[in-house]
Amino acid sequence: MKRNLGPVNALYPSLTTIVGAVVNGKPNFLAVAHVGIMNHGQPQFLSFGINKKHHTPKGIIEHGEFSVCIPGENLVVETDYVGLVSGKNTDKSQLFELFQGELAHAPLIKGCPVCMECRLSRVVDFGTHDVFIGELVATHADEGVLRADGGIDLARVRPLLFDMSSMKYWSLGAEVAPCWGAGKELKQRLRAGAE
Ligand SMILES: Cc1cc2nc3c(=O)[nH]c(=O)nc-3n(C[C@H](O)[C@H](O)[C@H](O)COP(=O)(O)O)c2cc1C
Repeated sequence: MKRNLGPVNALYPSLTTIVGAVVNGKPNFLAVAHVGIMNHGQPQFLSFGINKKHHTPKGIIEHGEFSVCIPGENLVVETDYVGLVSGKNTDKSQLFELFQGELAHAPLIKGCPVCMECRLSRVVDFGTHDVFIGELVATHADEGVLRADGGIDLARVRPLLFDMSSMKYWSLGAEVAPCWGAGKELKQRLRAGAE
């Protein structure tokens, strides 16, 4: 028997990212795990739910640009740190070695295996939080995390998965089955039964 937990958000784990922007002339970063994929295709839009009290949104709004880096498990301490302290009273600009991509105000972290640059598309007001929707401009990935076909190999990225329920970072498990493949045999069987 199932227990009704009330409106408990069970959409975890989510991907732990580090969102960066230039605030008052300095790069600033925060951990963001409330991330979303708005569509599939080009242009590609991504969403980030960020509390209005945080420091980083100021830079996102000022410049209309931000970065989204995917830390590997080796960066768990730094990732947690940028999620613990605020740029309002702590300078986080020296924490990472940075590089610049196509946008001038999207500070990218060299130590993260994958980094994306976004141009702010729109801001959706959710009371305590603003949801920043960014149009993806460019994605930079370490050669070492790419498969032979050029795709990003998650097993090599080793992303940090965030769970609010346990308040823990989790790691990715083994692959289970191919998408749009695992259900094919069942589809054929059910279709044959219906004929
Ligand atoms: C793992 C993790 C995930 C987080 N996810 C979010 C999030 O999705 N949205 C948010 O507003 N804050 C989130 N936070 C909290 C902010 O990262 C944190 O308050 C940060 O210090 C704000 O920094 P800033 O004021 O310099 O922007 C998260 C923190 C951690 C540790």
